[in-house]
Amino acid sequence: MKFFIDTADLDEIREANDLGVLDGVTTNPSLMKKAGGADFHEHIFRICEIVDGDVSAEVTATDFDGIMSEGRTLAGIHKNVVVKVPLIEEGIKALKAFRSEGIKTNCTLCFSAPQALIAAKAGANYISPFIGRLDDISNDGLQLISQIVTIYQNYNFDTEVLAASIRHPMHVVACAELGADVATVPLSVIKKILKHPLTDVGLEKFLADWDQYKESVSA
Ligand code: G3P
Repeated sequence: MKFFIDTADLDEIREANDLGVLDGVTTNPSLMKKAGGADFHEHIFRICEIVDGDVSAEVTATDFDGIMSEGRTLAGIHKNVVVKVPLIEEGIKALKAFRSEGIKTNCTLCFSAPQALIAAKAGANYISPFIGRLDDISNDGLQLISQIVTIYQNYNFDTEVLAASIRHPMHVVACAELGADVATVPLSVIKKILKHPLTDVGLEKFLADWDQYKESVSA
């Protein structure tokens, strides 16, 4: 499973990238608002310079011509830019057109299996089901991941399932068990994944025993 970081914060991206296990980045307008960065295009370029992997940058137009125009500009920023397109009628048309132009896409704001089916038929490279936001309204986000993985396997779609809106490590575990291709994860969740109290206690004991061993052999 590929690991993306879900942020536009350059420091967070650097920190995650330094771990050596980062495969890409997803951003959205809300994450840009949080991160700041005066020039959106320059900001996306800087992210691409940090991470060697796909970087999703979202269009804000909602009409076909506007989506295509913004998407082409975003794709021109760097070879790793993936154009993030909302799952609306005009977006579906744009997915197909971007595919024919060789521009990679990430279809975002997916909340149902039939939406994901249409996005795959339109040629999206990634589909982004938002599992946390479904859980928030008492729906089952993970069930959606399971449905999409099954549907895509049934028909050999090459669209990759990018689990988004991930809130905690068990979301990541479940997505991996269900066969999601990618999990895009906030830095806070990446840090939680690394943490285990038994690792901390075990390391403390090993280091204390090591000190005693060194003292005993040098005595
Ligand atoms: O990339 C978009 C998605 O991950 C949003 O997550 O936490 O705003 O629901 P969240």
